[in-house]
Formats: sequence, C-alpha cells, structure tokens
Amino acid sequence: MKKTILTGDRPSGRLHLGHYIGSLQSRIKLENQFDQYVMVADVQALTDNFENPQKITENVFEVAKDYLAVGLNPECTTFFIQSQVPEITELTIYFLNLVTLARLERNPTVKTEIQQKGFESSIPAGFFCYPVSQAADISIFQAELVPVGDDQLPMIEQTNEIVRRFNRIYNTQCLKECQAYLSSSPRLVGIDGKAKASKSLNNTIFLADSAVEIKQKVFSMYTDPTHLKVSDPGNIEGNVVFAYLDAFHQNKEEVIELKAHYQRGGLGDVTIKNLLNQTLQDLLGPIRERREALHDDDIKEMLLVGTKKARQKAQGTIEQVRAAMGLNYFQEK
Ligand code: TRP
Repeated sequence: MKKTILTGDRPSGRLHLGHYIGSLQSRIKLENQFDQYVMVADVQALTDNFENPQKITENVFEVAKDYLAVGLNPECTTFFIQSQVPEITELTIYFLNLVTLARLERNPTVKTEIQQKGFESSIPAGFFCYPVSQAADISIFQAELVPVGDDQLPMIEQTNEIVRRFNRIYNTQCLKECQAYLSSSPRLVGIDGKAKASKSLNNTIFLADSAVEIKQKVFSMYTDPTHLKVSDPGNIEGNVVFAYLDAFHQNKEEVIELKAHYQRGGLGDVTIKNLLNQTLQDLLGPIRERREALHDDDIKEMLLVGTKKARQKAQGTIEQVRAAMGLNYFQEK
C-alpha cells in the first residue's frame, strides 16, 4: 500500500512563488508515488481572520485553482476542505489535553506570527492553539510525509510529540509519527528583501499575477542600493533578483557567470531584471493560462469528491481514537 501524504495551505489569499518553491513543486513530484491529500485549511485560516470569514471562503476556490494550475492532478491527489471534515475538530479537542500552554508558547513559528500580527497584548486562543489542530490534520490521515516549507518544521515536531503522548497514554498504536519533506531550495525572500515572501507582508509574486504585474514587481525588486552606475561592482548578497534567479532560472551556469560579472562591475540592474522577468513570464504564463481555463463548477465538484474521500479516511481513524479512549459506548465491543 502507498504511504500517505497530508499537506495543505491556508486560504487567506492566492498562492505565490514562495509556495511554489517551498512545497508545490514537491507535491507535484510526490503525487505519483504516494497517496497524497492536500487540504485547503480554512479552519486554520480563520484563527487569525475570524472577523473576516468572507476573505477565507472566497479564497478556498482560488487556492484550489492554483493547485490545478501548477499541474497537480486530481486523479492522483485528493483535494479537500478542512472545515468539512469535522472529525479533525474532534481529534483537536482530545489533543488539547495533551499539550501545555508553556509548550505552545515555545513554538517559534507561532511566536513570530504573534509579533507580525500584533497579537502580543491579547492572543486569540484559537490562534494560539492552531499547531494542535495541525497535529490533528496530519495524524487523522495517518500521514507519514508532510511536504511543507521549513517554517513548518516546529509543527511537525509538535505533531510527533502529541502523537507519542497519545499512543502512550491510551496504550495504542493507532496514530503514526510523520516526517517533513523539505524542498531543496532555500526559503524564498520577499521582493522587498524581507526574510520571507508572504501574503500578509504584501511582498510576493502570485501565481495568478498578470504579465504586467510580474514585470512591475520584478522591476521594483530590492537589489544593491550602493550599485549606482553599471560600471560599479555590485553586491549579490541580499540581492533579491539573484535570489530569484537562483530559485527559478533553469540555466544555473548562466546565473553563476552573471553573479561574477555583477560583482566585478559592468552588469546593470536592468539587464538582470529583464532576464528574471523573462524567466518568470515563461514559468507563470502557462500556469496562468491553465488557471483561466478552469471552471468554478468543476472545481466545486472536485472538492466535493475529494472531501468525501478524505472524510472517510478521517472517520476510520477517529473510530480507533475513540475506541482507544473508551469513548465507543454504543459500539459492540
Ligand atoms: N500551517 C500551514 C500553512 O501555514 C497550513 C497547514 C494546515 C498545513 N494544516 C496543515 C500544512 C497540515 C501541512 C500539514 O501554510
């Protein structure tokens, strides 16, 4: 039997190049060899958007379109909507007993997000606990592999802690530990040179951006502020154009030569920006075309079919969980 993969994204906006390099590419590669489930994590997205549910519900379909546009195949991958699998919520509640507030406070990804979102003075409990619900997402599918960006590693670690604790306390083997599957590329920086490309920082190139938007974004990229004249030697460290060429330009030799030329002097920002623009237009043009050819009704049907299948799998696990905890009162034992 094929091993199971579970992964997903928050539908708080469309997917961008950071997702592409961080996890979408891996998922495309893995979908043939594994039983892959990809979840649109609307419940998790609500933990910091609860006042604005429409933003989330609208983006559920946009994210699903992004999945198909990049070439994921619904014949191989099961796509589903988190909120429509209530068994995940049930498992989250049981898991909450197995985690301390102190442990939740130590999660570095959540810590950073709390700062970014200005939640320091009052953190919504749902948001604070989302790593527990993520542990339920993963373990209810008996997933062994989780293709994600490296910012999600603390979630995987916390998931495995909870799974071990659950199995030990309830004397069962019904939940499996999992492993992250990381992309070989480093995390993509934002076009402004900030640490991470992210929707909330508004520094990303979306998979659905138009040709004009892509060009504008490339030409607004942070390069080397001291590289004033073409003849000046330039810095490639922290230079966003080179970070993106590293990530997306096929001809790696050419990038190495360009870097050396830039460092020596004599290579202008406009030249490298034109090259990157072309590289990204070549990558994103076909994705945008596939996206535009998709029909809302087909997307809905695909999510409905996927969600039914996902729910069946989740029900199988939750029955074992209830049995392990003795909560199967009305079942023949
Ligand atoms: N936390 C992930 C993100 O920020 C989304 C997510 C939710 C997820 N549940 C998951 C990823 C389970 C992998 C596995 O994008």
